[in-house]
Amino acid sequence: RGHRPLKGKHVLVTAGPTWEAIDPVRYIANRSSGKQGFAIAAAAAALGAKVTLVSGPVSLKTPEGVKRIDVESAQQMNDAVKKGLPADIAVMVAAVADWRPKEYKTEKMKKRGSAPPALVLTENPDILTNVAAASDRPSLVVGFAAETEDVIENAKKKRKRKAADWIVANDVSGNVMGGDTNRVHIVSDEGVESLEEMPKLEVAMALVQRMADALKAKQAD
Ligand code: C5P
Repeated sequence: RGHRPLKGKHVLVTAGPTWEAIDPVRYIANRSSGKQGFAIAAAAAALGAKVTLVSGPVSLKTPEGVKRIDVESAQQMNDAVKKGLPADIAVMVAAVADWRPKEYKTEKMKKRGSAPPALVLTENPDILTNVAAASDRPSLVVGFAAETEDVIENAKKKRKRKAADWIVANDVSGNVMGGDTNRVHIVSDEGVESLEEMPKLEVAMALVQRMADALKAKQAD
């Protein structure tokens, strides 16, 4: 196991929330600080990888040695990820909004004293599913799953449904959102490995080290 085991490899990471515009002043979004995704990008760069980080709106500093592409919506994130391929490893950490308003109002919607407007939603692309189905599919495709119950069972189902190699499941029933520690379970075809609760930076290092090992094994096949 070398010091820079990802040297010469490209790692593509998504992080943060997406914002889905309703009108020029309003949007719907998911709750995500981007911390875990940025930590993974930093860890991959530290292990020698060329890293592309596609980020939704967050207030975080770009990690050293990482190429960052800022996007706002899920559709923009999907396009940026497509353009970011090929990659050896894709790690989709972003909390992508499942839906966006079907129609974007180019003028600010007015409050008119009548009933509130109904918001009609339409489905966003599933970026992880798309990456896993791409013709230039990365050797290792990793998704995340934030769950509050049946964490591992749901992660196993998600791994199959999205054709990901790994799902990193985290139990978000506690203080994980926006917090600095995380407890994760790696669900792969080899089973489940549960890591201790630790700082998100250490979680990132542990995950990326295992990704480097898994990539080496796959690319040796
Ligand atoms: O289905 P769910 O949102 O729980 O799946 C979470 C995983 O899928 C995460 O890796 C997330 O980044 C990814 N995802 C995505 N595009 C979506 C929804 C989720 O890439 N539209």
